[in-house]
Amino acid sequence: MYAELKSIIVTGASSGIGKIAAIVLAGAGYKIFGLARSYDKLAELQAQLTPGQFFPIAFDITQHDTFEKVVSEIASRGQIFGLVNSAGYVEPGAIEDLTMDNLRVQFETNFFGLVGLTKLVLPYMMKHKAGRIVNVSSMAGLVSLPLIGAYCATKHALEAISDAMRMELWRSGIDVISINPGVIETNIHNVTSGKVRSLQSSRFAHAYEKYLVEEPKGLSVRVVGDSILHAITSRSPKHRYLIGSGKEKTGVRLRSLVPDSVFYAQVARRILS
Ligand SMILES: NC(=O)c1ccc[n+]([C@@H]2O[C@H](COP(=O)([O-])OP(=O)(O)OC[C@H]3O[C@@H](n4cnc5c(N)ncnc54)[C@H](OP(=O)(O)O)[C@@H]3O)[C@@H](O)[C@H]2O)c1
Repeated sequence: MYAELKSIIVTGASSGIGKIAAIVLAGAGYKIFGLARSYDKLAELQAQLTPGQFFPIAFDITQHDTFEKVVSEIASRGQIFGLVNSAGYVEPGAIEDLTMDNLRVQFETNFFGLVGLTKLVLPYMMKHKAGRIVNVSSMAGLVSLPLIGAYCATKHALEAISDAMRMELWRSGIDVISINPGVIETNIHNVTSGKVRSLQSSRFAHAYEKYLVEEPKGLSVRVVGDSILHAITSRSPKHRYLIGSGKEKTGVRLRSLVPDSVFYAQVARRILS
C-alpha cells in the first residue's frame, strides 16, 4: 500500500488533536511516531493501535538539544512524509497579568519548538521532494482575543511563518498546511482552567472564570482529525482548514469586513463586561 512505508511525526500525540491525528493516520496505514512528554499516555495509545503502526517517543518541545537525535532516529526507520505539529497550550492572562517568563515559555512551546523541529525534518522531506507539514494553529492565529493575548501572539507568529514557508517551498513537493480550529473539546481547557487559578486577584478574575473556565466545550476532536487526514492524504490539500461552529467561522470572516472600532468594541463587550 502507498502509505505503508511512510512515516509521520505527530507532536502532542498524548492528547486531544495530536492523539486523534495519530489514530486516524495510523488507521490510514501510515507509521506514526508520536511525541509528547507523557510517555505513559503514549504507551497507552500504542497498546490500542495495530502493532508496528505507532511508536511513542518521550519528547519536550522546549528542549531543542534533543531534537536532532530524535529526528535522525525516526529518519533511519523510513521516509518521513508528514509532520503534524500539534503540541501546545494556552497561557491565559491579560497582558497586565502575564509574566515575561510565562510569555517566553508560551512562545518556546507553541512557536520556537515547532519551528526548530520543522527545520530539522525539512531536509529529509526535501531529499524525497515530498512531504506535508501540518501546523495546528488556531482561529486565534487569525483573530486576536483578549485574555489570551500570549497564545494569540504565538499562533499569529505561526501563521506568518507558515505563509512564508508555503511560498519558499513552492514547487518543492512539500505542502505547508494550516489547521485553524475554533473551540474543540480537548484537555487544553482543563490545563487553561488550572492556570486561571493563579489569576484570582486580577481585575479580570470574573471574565477569566466566565470565558476561559465556564464557557469552553466546542466541537468533537474527531472533526479536526478528519481535516488532518485530508491534509495528509489528499492530492491537493487546502492551504488552510478552518474548523469551528458557524458562529466562529462568521466571526473570523467578519474580522476583515467590519471596521476595527466596531469589531474591538463588540468583542471587548462580550468577553470583558
Ligand atoms: N482544543 C482547542 O480548542 C484548540 C483550538 C485551536 C487550536 N488548538 C491547538 O491544538 C493543539 C493541540 O491542543 P489540544 O487541544 O489537543 O490540547 P491537549 O489535549 O491539551 O493536548 C496538548 C498536547 O500538547 C503536548 N504538549 C504540551 N506542552 C508540550 C511540551 N512542552 N513538549 C511536548 N509536548 C507538549 C501535550 O503532551 P504532554 O503534556 O504529554 O507533553 C499534549 O499531547 C495546540 O497547538 C492548540 O493550540 C486547540
